[in-house]
Amino acid sequence: METILKIRNLTVEVEGKAILRNLDLDIAKNQNLILFGPNGSGKSTLIGAIMGFENYKVTSGTIEFSGKNIIGLTPDQRARLGIGVMFQHPPKIRGIQLKQFIELLSDKSNNSKEKDSLVETLNLSYLLDRDLNVDLSGGEIKRSELFQVLVQRPKLLLLDEPESGVDLENIALMGKALNSYLKRHKLSALIISHTGYILEYIKTKYACVMLEGKVCCHDNPTKIFSEIKSVGYERCKDCRCRSGIKK
Ligand SMILES: Nc1ncnc2c1ncn2[C@@H]1O[C@H](COP(=O)(O)OP(=O)(O)O)[C@@H](O)[C@H]1O
Ligand SMILES: [Mg+2]
Repeated sequence: METILKIRNLTVEVEGKAILRNLDLDIAKNQNLILFGPNGSGKSTLIGAIMGFENYKVTSGTIEFSGKNIIGLTPDQRARLGIGVMFQHPPKIRGIQLKQFIELLSDKSNNSKEKDSLVETLNLSYLLDRDLNVDLSGGEIKRSELFQVLVQRPKLLLLDEPESGVDLENIALMGKALNSYLKRHKLSALIISHTGYILEYIKTKYACVMLEGKVCCHDNPTKIFSEIKSVGYERCKDCRCRSGIKK
């Protein structure tokens, strides 16, 4: 399997505190990986480190994207290489309409038919003239955010809890649009999920759990999720032993 993202021995500090510790992670081309983990385990930090956002200081390790070490590159350079991120809490920007922003973001490979079809599946037509995220509901922000990342046609999508604060109807809209886009363009994705609702739409065999800044317990998503639902993250702590993390 060809690897698109290869992380080795990654330690990341935030405000002088190590949050990710000697983390290893691989994502293959055309693979969708679901990442579970309790609050505060470092999931968003991982996304911040992959994108190179300030505040996330890499103190050791490597992050390779398509065989190229990206540590040291700015977030926009990483985005241009093909990493797209859907923010958990995107900013509101007055004076920029969604449709204007989409024109700036769109990859040349997207034709207008493709964009129109996303507008339709994500039910966004009435939001195109509105200012970016200003006075939008939680579900509207997430749908708009998903549209923005998909039109960039990234090779690797990073989605930080796409279901958080979204009702079931909107999760269904997003899940269906996302699943068909990932399949159609054979993209890779790292999808952080807290509620597991997205699993209904993203059909993948791959999931893992983050605990205390390390990835452990690679397994089938539905299996991991049903164990988390019944015993919390206790069972994952056993996996943590297996992956060599001290209790
Ligand atoms: N800017 C920051 N300043 C201080 N601590 C931070 C900052 N960002 C994250 N952290 C800490 O890093 C840890 C992991 O956070 P995060 O990656 O957001 O976890 P998750 O996304 O898994 O809930 C938490 O203990 C959090 O308080
Ligand atoms: Mg988070």
